[in-house]
This record gives sequence, C-alpha cells and structure tokens, in this order.
Amino acid sequence: MTVSEKKSFYVTTPIYYVNSAPHIGHAYTTVAGDVLTRWHRQKGESVWYLTGTDEHGQKIMRSAQENGENPQAWVDRLVDNDWKPNWRDLNIANDDFIRTTEKRHTERVQRFLQSLKDSGYIYAGDYEGLYCVGCEEFKLPGDLTERSGKQICNIHEKPVEMVKENNWFFKLSAFVDPLLKLYAEHPETCQPESARNEVISFLQSGLTDLSISRSTFDWGIPVPWDTNQVVYVWFDALLNYATAVGLGDDPQSEGGKKFVQTWPADVHLVGKEILRFHAVIWPAMLMAAGLDTPKKVFAHGWLLVGGEKMSKSKLTGIAPRDITDHFGVDAFRYYFLRAIPFGTDGSFSWEDMHARYTSELANDFGNLASRLAAMVNKYCDGVLPSVSHDAGLERFLAETVAKADAAICELDFQGGILAIMEFCKRVNGYVTEKEPWILAKNPANEPLLREVLYNTAEALRALAVLLHSVMPATCEILWDSLGANQSIGPIADQLISEVAKWGQLPQGALITKSAILFPRLEVSA
Ligand code: MSP
Repeated sequence: MTVSEKKSFYVTTPIYYVNSAPHIGHAYTTVAGDVLTRWHRQKGESVWYLTGTDEHGQKIMRSAQENGENPQAWVDRLVDNDWKPNWRDLNIANDDFIRTTEKRHTERVQRFLQSLKDSGYIYAGDYEGLYCVGCEEFKLPGDLTERSGKQICNIHEKPVEMVKENNWFFKLSAFVDPLLKLYAEHPETCQPESARNEVISFLQSGLTDLSISRSTFDWGIPVPWDTNQVVYVWFDALLNYATAVGLGDDPQSEGGKKFVQTWPADVHLVGKEILRFHAVIWPAMLMAAGLDTPKKVFAHGWLLVGGEKMSKSKLTGIAPRDITDHFGVDAFRYYFLRAIPFGTDGSFSWEDMHARYTSELANDFGNLASRLAAMVNKYCDGVLPSVSHDAGLERFLAETVAKADAAICELDFQGGILAIMEFCKRVNGYVTEKEPWILAKNPANEPLLREVLYNTAEALRALAVLLHSVMPATCEILWDSLGANQSIGPIADQLISEVAKWGQLPQGALITKSAILFPRLEVSA
C-alpha cells in the first residue's frame, strides 16, 4: 500500500454478516459505493473504497453450528467461496476488504476499548432486556410487536430472546447533546433528511447506556481486561471503518499515516435498518475517543420482494447471479441505481428490468454505438472523418456533465444516470433528424455526412466516459471500438471535468464494430 500525503475520499459499505451467501440487497449497497468510488476517481481524486465482512456474534455462531462447522471454518469458507468472488463478478473496485476476525482488526478493537475504559467511558453493570439475534440488537418496546404472547422483532419477524447478564457498558447517554449539536450544525452528515429527522427524534427521547460485552458465548473479540467476556458484535463491527485504516497506530507508522490520509470517512453507505448504529452509536464512540465523526452517513432504502424487505432469512433473497446470468453484470449495476431513488424503497421486478434493459440499454445506448460503427465502416472505411462541431449537442453535453456530477456527488444516482441517458436520447434524436443513410445516397452531401458521423462518435466518446462508473466493462468495449484507447488513452484516466470538451477523438481514429453491447435477451424473464 503506498501512502501519499493527499486526503483520500473514503467510502465504505456496511460489513456484511457471513451467515449466508450475498443477495442483491447486499449488492445494491456495494454497487452504489463502487459507482461513487469510480466517479470520484474520474474526478481526479484519490479514493479509498472499503468493504468487508462481519464475522462475530451469535448469529454467525449459530449459523455455523446449524451447518455442523466451527465458526472460523464457516466464515473462511463463505468469504472465500461466496463473498469475495461475488464482488469480483460484479466488478467491484474496492481497495481493501476487512474481515473482523483478522488480527489487524481484533488488536485495534482491543486497544480502542482499553482506551475508552481508561478514560472512564466504560463501566460494569447488569443488563436485562430483549435481544434480537437477527439484528444483533437489544430492542426497545417500539421495535417489537406482540404476537401469540411473544415479542416479535419488527425487522426479522422472529421472537426476541431475554438476556440477563453482568456486562460492560459504554456511557452512550452522555452523548445526546453532542449528537444533537452535530446534526443541528452539520445536517449534511446524516442523509437523507427524513433519516436524519428520525435520528434526531430518537435522540430527543434520550439514550440509555449500551451494553458492549457478552458473557454467555465466546465467538467474539475478548474484552482485554476481562477475557470471560467478548465484545458486543456491533461495537466490534462499527470499528472496522477505522481499524481497516490504521486506528490508533503510531502516527509515523504505515497504519498511522493511512489513518491521517483517510479519516474521517467521507461516506458511510448503509441500509436504513442500521442507521441508528451508524448515526448514534458510531459517532458517540468516536467522540468518546476524541476522533472526528464521519462526514456523511447515507441511509438508502430497501429492495422489496412482495412488498417486504428482501432477505435471506425470509427466503426472499435473490442471488446476484440469478440476474446477471440473464441480463449481464453491467445491466445489473445500472438497473437498481437507475430505477430506485437512492434513499427510497423499491420493488424488484423481472418485467421492469426487462423493459428498461430493452428500451434504455439495448435500444437507446447499444444501438447508437452499433449504428455509428456500422455507418463509419460503410461510408468511411472505418476511419473517423475530420473534427466537426454541433453547437446544440455541445451545449447539451456541458449541461449534462454539470447535472450528472452534481447529482452523483449528492448520491442521487438516479438523477445522475437519468441526465446522462437524456443526452443519449438527444444524440439518437440528432441521428434520426440528420438521416445519415439518406445523406449517403448523394455524394454532394458528403461533408454533411462526415460531420454527422464525427459528432455522433464524439457524443459516444462522452457517453462512454460518463457511464463508465456505472457500466465499466461495457464502456471499455465501446471505448475500444471508438479507437479511443490508441488516440486518447485508457478510459479510466478520462476526467469528468474534461468530458464536455468537444473534439477529442482525432481524425483518422479507427472505428471498429464491437460485440453487441446489450444482446437481445434470449427468453423473456
Ligand atoms: N453486519 C451488519 C452491518 C455492520 S456495519 C458496521 C449488517 N449486515 S447485513 O449482512 O445484514 O447487511 C446489511 C446491509 O445489507 C444493509 O445495511 C444494506 O446495506 C444491505 N441490505 C440487506 N438487505 C437489503 C435489502 N433488502 N435492500 C437493500 N439493501 C439491503 O447489518
């Protein structure tokens, strides 16, 4: 790992429980983080993108037991066979992958805990309360529903368990005012607004101290001064964002320098069900340690199946591969961010995905690319004619770049993608209006024909760069077919700030027919 001086734009996903293989809900967050990462890289920023796995606690321990394996063997197998390959398949460009069973994590967690104890934020006490193993959370009455005499967790719809233990507590209640002040002074640190309002009203109702250790099982990080207890899994897990970048290391060491370079995190992406952990407990832990709080926690909505949160435990989990086998990886990456406003719940449907694939990707985008390559080959022997301009297209492109950049930096992925696809539609309209196939019939129209072909190629150059963060592999194929690798350089090096400069493809670039970008779907889904 090379450590440069510049502050990195630091993006994280939640670390996922390895009680089963990933489903499309997990992929939704990770793809969003990847698009944000790639976009910021194309803004010329140094970006650090972290994902990983949450491997301790009762939920993982029980799933290992149910499968007749010891927990370490169970998590090792799932991480190696399912989680890491899944992110590779989805073309996720994370810089690091943290596992909470790694030594670099466990040691830093223990050191952090000891320092909070030394500064008086941790004390011993008795805990009695209801616990949901699915959420790995102590529940409040408002989080539960009574059914047949049992208290049921509203998220997992499973009965909660009574826990009565002598534990270590974190003085969470001391942070109500500092947290309220944080959100009053820096509302941008908890997004979207509706999520922040929920956090604020939760804080206004007061906080109780948090039990941060458990003594009735041992699958966790031992509390350093009391090894009969293991650290509460959320306390352990939240710290991953900081342990992965060298929390508490000597400032002169590699880890210490990395911490200065990355901390505070710029964006923690989380699903809305885990917002309270990230917008209440996590900043309080950091405040207690005298560390900066994250610049933004963004709570996105759920993918729903049959109107409910899609989840493995309810047997509604869909594996990413079930979709990518049919539609391809890039259509998968595109679809969820395009179809669902980030921050809102959305239902997944095969029909809707099929319709958007056909109209937006295959027809609007893919066909434009193949028509251009076919026409340049037919009318110009595959050689791009001289540089031309079209004031209308150029203006539209400049506006598109500004809109898309503003939207994506605000995590409005849908707004950003829509702006780019509007430009794509505009270019299709330009081609339809100019009718190059008619122009080609009369040699007198050749200058105009060349102009239209050049402008269309140039528009596709811009589209390839703008869509690269969403659909990297497809845009690389398009880039190649425009001869842009040779004439301009790698697509990943193209800056968003330069995209709207018209005339970058040089005269003479070799335009080749690529494979169809979005092939016709074999069987209707
Ligand atoms: N291990 C904790 C997170 C610890 S972070 C310090 C956890 N893990 S999880 O495996 O349950 O993953 C939760 C995350 O997966 C959600 O926050 C969200 O990002 C994603 N999703 C899981 N199901 C989802 C949907 N149905 N829809 C959208 N995202 C979902 O909680």
